[in-house]
Amino acid sequence: MTTTASSSEEPKKPFHLRGNYGPVSEEVESFDLAVEGAIPASLNGFLVRNGPNPKSGESPHWFFGDGMLHAVEFERGKAKSYRNRWVHTRKYLEGASGIDMETGAVDLTVGPSNTHIYPHAGKLFALVESSFPVEVDRGMRTVGVHDFDGKLKTAMTAHPKTCPATGEMHFFGYAFTEPYLVYHCVDKNGRLIKSEAIEGAGPSMMHDFAITENFVVFMDLPITFNLESAMSGSMPYLWNDDYDARVGVMPRGGSGRDINWYSVNACYVFHPLNAYDDGNTIVMDVCRYEDMWRGDAAAFTPAHLHRWTIDRVAGTVAEQPLDDREVEFPRIDDRVTGRPHRYGYVAQSKSSVASETTALVKYDLKTGVAATHEFGPGRSPSEGVFVPDSDAAGEDEGWLLSYVYDAAENCSEVAILDAQDPTKAAVARIRLPQRVPFGFHGCWAPPI
Ligand SMILES: [Fe+2]
Repeated sequence: MTTTASSSEEPKKPFHLRGNYGPVSEEVESFDLAVEGAIPASLNGFLVRNGPNPKSGESPHWFFGDGMLHAVEFERGKAKSYRNRWVHTRKYLEGASGIDMETGAVDLTVGPSNTHIYPHAGKLFALVESSFPVEVDRGMRTVGVHDFDGKLKTAMTAHPKTCPATGEMHFFGYAFTEPYLVYHCVDKNGRLIKSEAIEGAGPSMMHDFAITENFVVFMDLPITFNLESAMSGSMPYLWNDDYDARVGVMPRGGSGRDINWYSVNACYVFHPLNAYDDGNTIVMDVCRYEDMWRGDAAAFTPAHLHRWTIDRVAGTVAEQPLDDREVEFPRIDDRVTGRPHRYGYVAQSKSSVASETTALVKYDLKTGVAATHEFGPGRSPSEGVFVPDSDAAGEDEGWLLSYVYDAAENCSEVAILDAQDPTKAAVARIRLPQRVPFGFHGCWAPPI
């Protein structure tokens, strides 16, 4: 694992508390930010990113720190403001743990809400897969736990998917006790309209999933609940050689009994890029780990882009490596969610997912060409968020936005790349008043 200049001063801390993984201690607001270059006038809204930032400065695992949101507001070519705020969860406010170690009962109102920030039906949700969503406003102030009028009875994945045709938000909750997996659908107005327990699921860690025009695809992969690891206070999941790796395909209008499970080669996938229907097959591109967390939930390994072709008639899944770069945080133009995608955007690392990223890569999956934006020595981008230039813009006609950390200056900026040619210099760089720690996922949120 590579280290930053500042991280070498703290050699005894685990990686997730050192250097730019380490938390910031201040909530800051700043206005009329300095800009180098020209911010596209079409960008009107908020670039928000979530990530763990333990209030106490301590955390037993990278995934456990209290969620902190970083938001830059853009308006008519200006970077109007930056602010960072903790998500005021019960974990943050009360120090609640959310799990009763005697009974295993999980309180879904507690978790750290540190993984993603997701807009739907005019609301913004801070998400972590162990808990209910937490609503925040455009000022990044916490509104409160959102359980869809009491209808949601499970945790909610940090990776819901919104269908571009219906506006429905699809998601799931998983648990280490039955029902292991429950699928949910929220209509375009924010009402929970469907919850289905999925037959045949198991106690695996299910971080993300995919939808197509007609199906929902779950990934039941061999990282499973591990009581010993849970009791140690670390992640309650580890690699399990005895667990069969499978994907499950359910019709979007179907029930939990309508799922079909198909074997895949043992692996782990945090994130698919996207999936789509192609006749009797489903094409699904994923960032695939050969294995991960063998006996140690801090032992991250490299991931590479692969294509699964799920043949629903033959009952087989073909697996094809698409590139040998080490990549994670795959994103698309969200308008093609569940539809054929030509382009994908990923963050490239040099050694592992738990190391600093060095570049953003745009894949053209039609031509096989990869266009790379290297940020330079010591400069690390976060996940690239694609924002179309207009509603009518084509799939790559827009902007790729990323929070970028500069180790030499120990500061961060937002970089805006032209998504049609990300190899070019950034069209705009917005200097931020403090560093933004390495974190997880972000979104583009329109103003209300
Ligand atoms: Fe994720």
